[in-house]
Amino acid sequence: MSGKLFDLSGEVAAVIGGTGALGGAMAQALGEAGAKVAIIGRSAERGGERVQQIQAAGGTAIFQSADAMSRDSLTAARDAIASQLGTVTVLVNAAGGNKPDATLPPGSDFCKLSNAAWNEVFDLNLVGGVLLPSQVFGESMVAAGKGSIINIASMSGMIPLSRVVAYSAAKAAVINLTMFLAREWATKGVRVNALSPGFFPAEQNRKLLFNDDGSYSARGQQIIGHTPMARFGTAEELGGATVWLAAPKASSFVTGQNIVVDGGFSSVTI
Ligand SMILES: NC(=O)c1ccc[n+]([C@@H]2O[C@H](COP(=O)([O-])OP(=O)(O)OC[C@H]3O[C@@H](n4cnc5c(N)ncnc54)[C@H](O)[C@@H]3O)[C@@H](O)[C@H]2O)c1
Repeated sequence: MSGKLFDLSGEVAAVIGGTGALGGAMAQALGEAGAKVAIIGRSAERGGERVQQIQAAGGTAIFQSADAMSRDSLTAARDAIASQLGTVTVLVNAAGGNKPDATLPPGSDFCKLSNAAWNEVFDLNLVGGVLLPSQVFGESMVAAGKGSIINIASMSGMIPLSRVVAYSAAKAAVINLTMFLAREWATKGVRVNALSPGFFPAEQNRKLLFNDDGSYSARGQQIIGHTPMARFGTAEELGGATVWLAAPKASSFVTGQNIVVDGGFSSVTI
């Protein structure tokens, strides 16, 4: 294999949820490493902002509207990107998150958690988050004999966190599905890995981590207290692992893995 270890100049990356905090930063890192990037999401405004940021850094990027919960929408997006940038070779599945209805209030009864809220979180993180995009983009990667899929799981997929039971279980399923797909496509030229962030402030978890005045919530303080690095992560800190997993040369023999970026949270028990 020729070329530089972390060179992405031959790659076309689609980042679903590139409109969000973590997906946006991952898209930025891919663009700055030389990949052509398609930001996929539902907000043209937020997607357009990220496109501008990647272009300002000298990269190539477009926004493509799509709903990760719809196979038809994803298929249309895949084909539109192929005609503008080329066949997608790197897929980042970063649409996902928790839902307030699926979060148990402190001291509440787990037996009362609604089935609807549970299903909503599983649908978002597992079906729209990984299953449908992997089927749609995976199909063209397998046909091309080349690809890297990076699924955003979570540290909570390994250690179930209190209160966010549906989210933790859904992310555990994301890690499991990642391993399944890795084996399925290992001889087809397509690698599939998960990236598990610890705690990174974003819209979907802001209310859990901060009070309205911006100070840490009790839960936020508890998390910082348990994190050896004693801070939350910044979205840019996912860039290195993202570029590594995307790079055909740097991670050529890496598939079915779950890469944890959490400031050490999951490495300590107290
Ligand atoms: N922030 C954290 O601390 C943290 C930790 C671990 C894992 N994660 C995971 O990282 C991923 C990104 O989360 P984030 O924190 O950046 O949140 P975010 O809310 O900023 O980003 C998620 C993005 O996905 C988009 N999205 C949601 N549903 C969609 C759909 N149906 N179609 C297209 N786009 C859709 C949202 O509009 C948003 O832009 C999620 O899977 C989340 O569970 C986040």
